[in-house]
Amino acid sequence: MISKRAIETPASPIRRLVPYSDEAEKRGIHVYHLNIGQPDIKTPKIWYEYIEKYKPEVVAYTHSQGLLELREAFADYYAKHNINVNPDEITITNGGSEAIMFALGVVCDPGDEVLTIEPFYANYLGFATYLSVKLVPVTAHPEDGYRLPSMEAFERALTPKTKAILFSNPSNPTGTVYTYEEVKRIIEFAKKHDLVIISDEVYREFTFDGRKHVSAFHFEGIEDRLIIVDSISKRYSACGARIGVLVTKNKEFSKGVLKFAQARLCPAETSQYGAIGLLKLGDEYTNSVRDEYQKRRDATYEAMKKIPGVVVHKPEGAFYLAAKLPVDNAEDFIIWMLKEFNINGKTTMASPLNGFYVTPGAGVSEIRIAYVLESEKLTEAVEILGEGINEYNKSK
Ligand SMILES: Cc1ncc(COP(=O)(O)O)c(C=O)c1O
Repeated sequence: MISKRAIETPASPIRRLVPYSDEAEKRGIHVYHLNIGQPDIKTPKIWYEYIEKYKPEVVAYTHSQGLLELREAFADYYAKHNINVNPDEITITNGGSEAIMFALGVVCDPGDEVLTIEPFYANYLGFATYLSVKLVPVTAHPEDGYRLPSMEAFERALTPKTKAILFSNPSNPTGTVYTYEEVKRIIEFAKKHDLVIISDEVYREFTFDGRKHVSAFHFEGIEDRLIIVDSISKRYSACGARIGVLVTKNKEFSKGVLKFAQARLCPAETSQYGAIGLLKLGDEYTNSVRDEYQKRRDATYEAMKKIPGVVVHKPEGAFYLAAKLPVDNAEDFIIWMLKEFNINGKTTMASPLNGFYVTPGAGVSEIRIAYVLESEKLTEAVEILGEGINEYNKSK
């Protein structure tokens, strides 16, 4: 009775090993959770102040596109980042997740294809499968820091069914921040082949070592083929708020997205009030959070570099590090870490990167680490990982 799409939709590689960590924790093991991008930084107080300020007597439906005041706040935020959009071009969504689903849904019919750079944010595959859209990978490699693959590789992946290119910048899971030249290459390619660009910029504020984020919106002449996905989840440590946005200047897309939005009625009213508050926070807040993640990136990278046989590049943004481990199968290794290994009652959990690829067999020795703990804990967690690799390979 169950649909094919329900069977084919993959379980999240970020969450599917959780039963093993639950088991380990039941046995009293302290697990360093580096598998999920849940920041530990406190949600700013202004979130609560704004919810308190509005405090409606009835928690009501809002406009399906989202509260005008919140859309205006987002338009102001973008203006500060040299992105000129008006509130009509913004739809508030239930997290960036819903924005991805709406974007794929407004561009693709069942059977259409979307190019993406693999390894990619694993849930892209879940959404594509849900919509019967084929996600076609163009593979980046750990050996060159997961940089943008060659345009020839993109050309090879094209078919008459290709409708769009979807990518995250900064990248989850690799932490690569695409340069102006790289983003330009993607845009030129999309223009040449009449594709829509779905640019996922949820980590846009987290770029390190003085790098500036290059938004697809910084390029001219592509207004009609561009959709931006964005979110407050990571930027303001407000993952549970479930507030994201879809931005497009293409009026037809906006109309289609509005119909999808009407079908799900509206985003949570209370969260929209909180988000209006969060968007009042200026550069001082984002700079301090970015500096904290950069410190954590440094701690994680330095510790990873010390593990013999690991292929790792210094992440440039987001809060993830992807690495190739000297193990035959990273998923088996992580399960082993949770079942068999600990140092003084502590072990480390990462995400196997194979679930961030669709090419069979790709990423089998790779992991993703989310550096969302304090630096000292990250150093210890990675040292435990290194000891684990040593023991694991001895035990085989
Ligand atoms: C690249 C990327 N896009 C979108 C999302 C979705 O975030 P949310 O739905 O919490 O806004 C995430 C979450 O991890 C992500 O990493």
